[in-house]
Amino acid sequence: MNKKIRSDLKQWHELEEHAKVIENVPMRTHFDNDPNRFNNFHISIDSMLLDYSKQHIDKTTIEKLCNYAKACDLEVWRDKMFAGERINITEDRAVLHTALRSDNQEIIVDGHNIIPDIHATFRRMDEFSNKVNQEKRFTHIVNIGVGGSDLGTFMAYEALKQYSNRDISLYFVSNIDATALKETLRVIDPEKTLFVITSKTFTTQETIANALSARKWLKEKIGNKDISDHFVAITQNIEIAKDFGIKEERIFPIWDWVGGRFSIWSAVGLPLSIAIGYDNFKAMLDGAKEIDKHFCSAPFDKNMPIILGLIGMWNRNFLKRKSLAVIPYSQYLHRFPAYLQQLDMESNGKSIDRNAKKTPYDTGSVIFGEVGTNSQHAFFQLIHQGSDVVPCEFIAIIKNKNDIDDHQKILLSNAIAQAQALMDGQSNNDPHKAFDGNRPSIMLMIDELTPRNFGKLIALYEHKIFVQGILWNINSFDQCGVELGKTLARQIINNLEISIKNTNIDSSTLNLINTISIIDSE
Ligand code: F6P
Repeated sequence: MNKKIRSDLKQWHELEEHAKVIENVPMRTHFDNDPNRFNNFHISIDSMLLDYSKQHIDKTTIEKLCNYAKACDLEVWRDKMFAGERINITEDRAVLHTALRSDNQEIIVDGHNIIPDIHATFRRMDEFSNKVNQEKRFTHIVNIGVGGSDLGTFMAYEALKQYSNRDISLYFVSNIDATALKETLRVIDPEKTLFVITSKTFTTQETIANALSARKWLKEKIGNKDISDHFVAITQNIEIAKDFGIKEERIFPIWDWVGGRFSIWSAVGLPLSIAIGYDNFKAMLDGAKEIDKHFCSAPFDKNMPIILGLIGMWNRNFLKRKSLAVIPYSQYLHRFPAYLQQLDMESNGKSIDRNAKKTPYDTGSVIFGEVGTNSQHAFFQLIHQGSDVVPCEFIAIIKNKNDIDDHQKILLSNAIAQAQALMDGQSNNDPHKAFDGNRPSIMLMIDELTPRNFGKLIALYEHKIFVQGILWNINSFDQCGVELGKTLARQIINNLEISIKNTNIDSSTLNLINTISIIDSE
């Protein structure tokens, strides 16, 4: 395996040299010189089209990027991931969310075939989802979880709402701010509520505090009746869940080889499976499996996740773009940017490489976004005329079952117009009204937001992020960076309760703590 620092590779230097030439060619010139440019720079796979022609690239760029990816042993790392090797080196774990959607009959982790365990859990999810839908005993389902135990399921429930049983409502409580729980408790019927406590570790402070408060509330509301029926746990930590009072048959397992932010395909998706039905949940997994197959077999220059990853790296490292805006033109995808922020930034927001060396090059971008057209009326001013160039990824869903009159036409025209305007700009004698243009974007078009296509979309981004982790030689699967804040918060909570005499504490932190203590005691 290549131990060289990535930016010392000759393929990296070649890209640097190439960037100096290409950055001076306006994107529009590429189109004028090559009427076939769209054909040369798009990838179409069943129900999805990725147009990356509005980028500062030519054929040589793609060739050089693919050579760089080969020099990083991308194929080797991809195969290691799918085979269950422990590529999450800091946590010494396999990374096998792909096993959850695999056709394979055998994937071995620690000498044990994990496929039968996955199938057994899916059978239980299927049965439980049917039971809840048929019995109609629970009409309110409250998922209590945070991060990967919330964002994916919440986003997917919103995305696939048109497939959901409208007699069942899902609620998501993640924030420790009690407002989140209280506002939910105000609208649910305790007798008809099922709380799903989702936590891989079952130790996350916010989730356990919310779960305990929910349990207390339910006891107050329904008196001496057995409340254990109202709780389900999804966790790796079966024993703590049992200690919490959840019956063993109501605990659905996840495993250490499923990372939190990649866990939507596991039992973490149970609330979604209840809402949209297990068959639709399975269709989502099948869609993801199609992308897995594509990722493992398509040549680099025809491989959607690889091209997405390479273009992102090209913009980040060679054209020095710091951020990336992701704009879905679909109201159903309104939680997608929030979900993607964790998936991407918790995975690739790192600057120590796999050899434990500080990376001398930039890594993960700042990801932000909002649905179109709302985003056009919010931050697009900066994207069109701001001093930073912000590459955009537009996601357009062509068919919309909710269409009224010409809404869908207006929506899609806006998506296409934004990409065109960013590239073409506009000259004007009044500098305030002039647009430089030459700003890059990618357009991902999807036929329709079915569960299968939705599964493809999520798997596409998962693999894009994996690809970039390999290109940057970082471990995309740990999250050491969130630990310090958690530890300090625990110390501060103690300090709020006792007066502090910590000489090490800075005056800002000290005075902020004192301000809270004073206001709290008034
Ligand atoms: O904040 C970090 C994190 O570990 C995420 O990676 C994870 O998705 C989230 O906390 C929740 O963790 P758990 O599922 O163990 O409650």
